Parts: sequence; structure tokens; C-alpha cells
Amino acid sequence: MSEKSVLVTGACGEIGQALVQSLNKRGYRIFTADLVSLPESIKNLPAEHIQGDLVNRIKIFYDYDFDLIFHLAASLSSKAEVATEDAHRINVEGTMQLLLLAAYKSEKLNKPVKFMFPSSIAAYGFPDRATKHAAGNVKEDEWNTPHTMYGCNKLYCEKLGVYYSRYCGQRHLDPVPPTMLDFRAIRFPGLVSAFTIPSGGTSDYGPEMLHSAAAGKPYACFVDAETRISFMAMPDAIKSLLMLMDAPRETLSSQVYNIAAFSLTAGEFRQRALGAFPEAQITFAPNPRRQGIVDSWPEDVDDTLARKDWGWKPEYDVDKFFNEYFLPAIKKRYQRPSTRTIE
Ligand code: SER
Repeated sequence: MSEKSVLVTGACGEIGQALVQSLNKRGYRIFTADLVSLPESIKNLPAEHIQGDLVNRIKIFYDYDFDLIFHLAASLSSKAEVATEDAHRINVEGTMQLLLLAAYKSEKLNKPVKFMFPSSIAAYGFPDRATKHAAGNVKEDEWNTPHTMYGCNKLYCEKLGVYYSRYCGQRHLDPVPPTMLDFRAIRFPGLVSAFTIPSGGTSDYGPEMLHSAAAGKPYACFVDAETRISFMAMPDAIKSLLMLMDAPRETLSSQVYNIAAFSLTAGEFRQRALGAFPEAQITFAPNPRRQGIVDSWPEDVDDTLARKDWGWKPEYDVDKFFNEYFLPAIKKRYQRPSTRTIE
């Protein structure tokens, strides 16, 4: 058991809830932070919750010595696009403040604070669908031309993380001294949880469609049937964060990693949903703004680097995702007997 102190910002979000449960099993001393109070899934775990706006209340966090920070708090892509200044404040200023805190503590305690940052496929940007299709699986340093406020924020914060962990004060020595924070980022695809429903994102059509089908509610998908991006089961997302966190620093040839699991079109999502819930009513009503956002994201990503450096491999391919993760859990959640194994 470890007694390390870990801060999870955005703890009430989808990744946050699942991550806090996993960290609790590992025996960490957990501090959570979010704008809202802790949800049912984690509120009875032994964690100290700091509720409020991170940017305004950053001074409070200086009272603690965190060994690890998972900075999950963010305004997601669709929400950020309609409230750009607010998104910049949350996504960039919030990250900047926490990086400064981690840099200060690393220096003061002569011990690197590990800073885990969830980045996104939104860090990429394609001009049109044909270019996106031709590009196929993109590597980390390709097509870093985001089209959204959220994507710009994520890409810039990756750069800030690398800056504060390596170059700040122009001390880019090898090995990096322990007085520098240890920044590590994962670019996540669209995530799907059987236990929580996303809000404010643009990959949300995948999980929304599946949860609606399971709950017996009609769903009008806001992108068209040919739209393709990569997705991943939430347990794999948590697994990847813990794997990267555990990897010895000297084994990492990069600080920003793609991870992949499976790539599906919205039409294929619909087919899968209908396979399990034949009466589901799923239609397509593309919203041009949200369609444009998803069209700028890659069809899939190349995760060779993560596989090579820290042994990344997803547990769930598309069949296993539906048959062994999503459907069994969703069946219990919505009490729908008609769930069938699907291919
Ligand atoms: N899931 C995120 C969103 O849709 C992308 O990382 O905003």
C-alpha cells in the first residue's frame, strides 16, 4: 500500500469518478477537487474534497504536498466552442496555475511532483474529411493544427507541461533534475463509460446513442452515419493513466502519447446498438458545427510509441467492449432484459 498524496481535479467528471475509485484501491491519500460536490459513486470513499473554482482558489492547494496530480478539470469541446473565454480560463489558466504549483513544490521538496494530464484527439485538426481519411492513423507530431478552442487549449497545455518539466529556467539537463516536475500526457480518443454519461463534449454522440438505446429512448445523432473517430472503454482509459504514471521516467522517450483501442463510424455504432436493442430508435440529424468539429479529428491514432515505451495495449477491442464491458453493465443499469451479445 502506498501513502502517497494525490490530487484529482475534475474528480466528478467521467474519468475522475472512475480514476478516484482505482486510486482508492491502490491506497493513496486522495484529495479531490471540483466545482460541484462529489457524486454518489465516490462520495463515501476516504477522500478530502475541495469544492470550488480552481483558478480562484489555487492558494488553498499550496497548503498540501501532493506527490501526484491528475489534472482532469476541463471545459470539453462543444461547450468550449460556445463559451471560448470561459474555456480558456478553465483549460489554460487552471492548468497553468497547477503547473506553477507543481513546479514550486518539486523545487522546494527536491522531489518531482508527477503531473498527469489528459489531452485529446482534439489536439489534431484536419481541413476536411478527405484529408482526414487519407491521413489514416496519425502520429503524435502530425497534424497538430486544432480547429477548436478545446483542442488549442489541450495542445498548448501539453507544451506548457513540457516547458515546466524540462526547460523552465533553461535547465534542460539529462537526466532531468529532481527539482523539475514530471509531466506526462495522454491524448485520449472518445471515451465510453457504462456508468456515467458525458456532457459538453463532441464525441458524446457515441455514448449518448448507446445509453439512449439501452434506456429505450429515441436518439437523434448530431453527426452523420459516415463520421469516424476512435473510441475507448473507460476502464482502458484508467488503465492507461495508471500505466503511464507507473512507468519509470527513463523509459519514456516522449511526454505526450497517443493511445488507441477501436475506431467506428456513427453508423457502425448504430448497428451495434440495434444488434443489442432491436427496437432502439436512432436517427441522424447532423449539427453542422459539431459535425465540423468531429470531421477535424483523426479517424484513428498511431499508438506505437505508448506500446513501445510503457507496454500500452488496450484490454477492450470493439467486440469485447460491447460484449464484456458495456452491455452487461448497461443491462443492470437500465434493467433491460433484451440485451443480446452482438457482433
Ligand atoms: N471527448 C472530448 C470531447 O468530445 C474530446 O477529447 O470534447
